[in-house]
Amino acid sequence: MEKDRINTCPFLRRGTRVSPLVKMETNLMQQLTVGLDERSYPIWIGNGILAELPCALQAVSFPNRVSLITNTTVAEFYAEQTVQTLASAGFRVSVVRLPDGEEYKTLDTLAHLYDTLIEQRFDRHDGLLALGGGVIGDLVGFAAATYLRGIPFAQIPTTLLAQVDSSVGGKTGVNHPQGKNLIGAFYQPRHVHIDVGLLATLPDREFAAGLAEVVKYGVIADADFFSWLEQHRQLLVGKDSRALVEAVMKSCQIKANVVENDEKEQGLRAILNLGHTFGHAIETLAGYGVIRHGEAVAIGMVLAARTSCEMGLCSRQDVDRISQLLVTLNLPVQIPDFTAAEYAAVMSLDKKVKGGEVRLVLNHGIGVARMHRLDDPQGLMSRLLHPIMPTDKT
Ligand code: NAD
Ligand code: GLY
Repeated sequence: MEKDRINTCPFLRRGTRVSPLVKMETNLMQQLTVGLDERSYPIWIGNGILAELPCALQAVSFPNRVSLITNTTVAEFYAEQTVQTLASAGFRVSVVRLPDGEEYKTLDTLAHLYDTLIEQRFDRHDGLLALGGGVIGDLVGFAAATYLRGIPFAQIPTTLLAQVDSSVGGKTGVNHPQGKNLIGAFYQPRHVHIDVGLLATLPDREFAAGLAEVVKYGVIADADFFSWLEQHRQLLVGKDSRALVEAVMKSCQIKANVVENDEKEQGLRAILNLGHTFGHAIETLAGYGVIRHGEAVAIGMVLAARTSCEMGLCSRQDVDRISQLLVTLNLPVQIPDFTAAEYAAVMSLDKKVKGGEVRLVLNHGIGVARMHRLDDPQGLMSRLLHPIMPTDKT
């Protein structure tokens, strides 16, 4: 029975050992592997590949009994289709619909999820599927990490941000009233299933917010990818499926590479936070929910680039390229009008602060990034808010 199901899958090459970051191309789909020894897992990326989910789960020997956990918004679009696909391949599926919103990424929601799993007698041989954006992915991942001391889970990300960032790398968790993502665990999924076709229903503003993270990968790790994004910006904004598959694949590849080298963020992984120190400050000062995380990261990346330029780490032209690309992807780049003291106060609470020192990820040109110590956050913010324009010498 199991053999038959596997053999009907057009994408699964039985017996093929996929080494880390090896790309397998088919006409519809690309695969790569996050190489973490016994915790390695595949990422499948394509357009219209939700139908291949059963086959992908079979390929990693995922449990046959699964709880599909989603939110009420995503459920409207994709729950029934996903359940039918899984059920017709012989999976036993139950569905949990959680309320939609960052405000529900809490210990209370998690407790409700544990209650449901216990009521349904889920055991260690069963698995969880996260169908949704980063909120659902982080919450379900943490439930999987902690329920019965850990059960298998897989990610089916439905926002662009989740497809290029949160579904990959194993950061899971929930928020605490004192701050975002303060409670969590590193816990890797068994499989990540990325269907860019699911982005068709995503609101434009959410889609643009995800593109900010895509640009980030070019700036921190790959100048050629950055140029490719400049060349394909119109296709990306138009949600062209081939361009999207390529952009998501490259983003996941870069993230996988970083995670493989520093799974638990002892050093290198922090470069994924380019623009985030400024971005978190903007989100906090504006009030959560007023500005999308990706929008704040876009502004933060431009501020980081301007800081890099001030320190002689990149050119003025690099700053302009980053800024222009973000603008054409429908992202904001202007710094909101809070005072330098307000910015500095919030930045001093950033997770990267070490021994009281604010640390910032800065780009070196385009394609390389490093962590830097920041001696005078308020002075820097003052200069970023009130730049001295070059004088006209004529
Ligand atoms: P989200 O999960 O709140 O999704 C945004 C909105 O889009 C929601 O209203 C959602 O219901 C809706 N939605 C999702 N998919 C849809 C679709 N296909 N069609 C229509 N609507 C859809 O937000 P997000 O931006 O995906 O994720 C943000 C969260 O991710 C934050 O909690 C953040 O902390 C977390 N995050 C985690 C990591 C990580 O490494 N684990 C990285 C970045 C962000
Ligand atoms: N989103 C940052 C990280 O996964 O480390």
